[in-house]
Amino acid sequence: MKKRVAILISGSGSNMEALVRDMEADHPAEPVLVLANNPSAGGLTKAAARNIPTACIDHRPYKGNRPAFEAALTEALTAARPDIICLAGFMRILTPGFITRWQGKMLNIHPSILPLFRGLHTHQRALDAGMAVHGCTVHEVTGELDGGPILGQAVIPVQAGDTPETLAARLLPMEHKLYPAVLRRFAMGDRSKLMLAPSGA
Ligand code: GAR
Repeated sequence: MKKRVAILISGSGSNMEALVRDMEADHPAEPVLVLANNPSAGGLTKAAARNIPTACIDHRPYKGNRPAFEAALTEALTAARPDIICLAGFMRILTPGFITRWQGKMLNIHPSILPLFRGLHTHQRALDAGMAVHGCTVHEVTGELDGGPILGQAVIPVQAGDTPETLAARLLPMEHKLYPAVLRRFAMGDRSKLMLAPSGA
C-alpha cells in the first residue's frame, strides 16, 4: 500500500510540484492533499491542475488564536489520513502540541545548511557570514524551530557577486532534487542521511 502524503504550502509550491512529479512515477507514496494557509498560494492551482485534492485554511481569521488555526489544520489533515506530512515552503510556525500529534511523520525543507541559519533570510545571512557554501536541508519536524533529525542536505558554492536572489535561484533546483529523493527514501523507512552536491562539484 502506498504511503499517503499531505503537503503544506504557503506560496508558489515549486517544492510541492517537485514532490508530486516524482510521485507520479513508480513510487512508494502518493499525494492525497495539498493544503495552503493562503488562498492566493500559486501552488493550489498547480496542485488542482494535477488533480490533487486541495484545501485552504486561511490563517488570517485566526489571528491571535493559533490553537484554533491548528485545530482547523488538524481537522483537514485528519480527514486526508496522511502517513507523511511534507512542509514545503509552509511559512507558519507550528506549536509543539500540533507537532507532537504528527511527530515522526512530518518533514520540512529549509533553505540553509542546518543547524546554521534557522528562521528567515537564510540567503542573506549565509552571505553576511562569508560562507563559501550554502545549501538546503530536509529534516524531521520536532518542537524545535528548524531542528529535528537531518535526513538530507544539498550544497552549492557561493560565488563572487552572489546576492540573496542569485543564491536562492541557484539553490531552488537543488531543493527540487533533494526533497523528492528524501521523501522517496523516508516512505520506504530509510532515515539515513543523503548528501547532494551540484554535478561537477
Ligand atoms: C523554498 O525555498 C523553501 O526552502 C523555503 O521556502 C521556499 C518555498 O518555495 N522554506 C522556508 O523558508 C521554510 N522556513 P516553493 O513554494 O516554491 O516551494
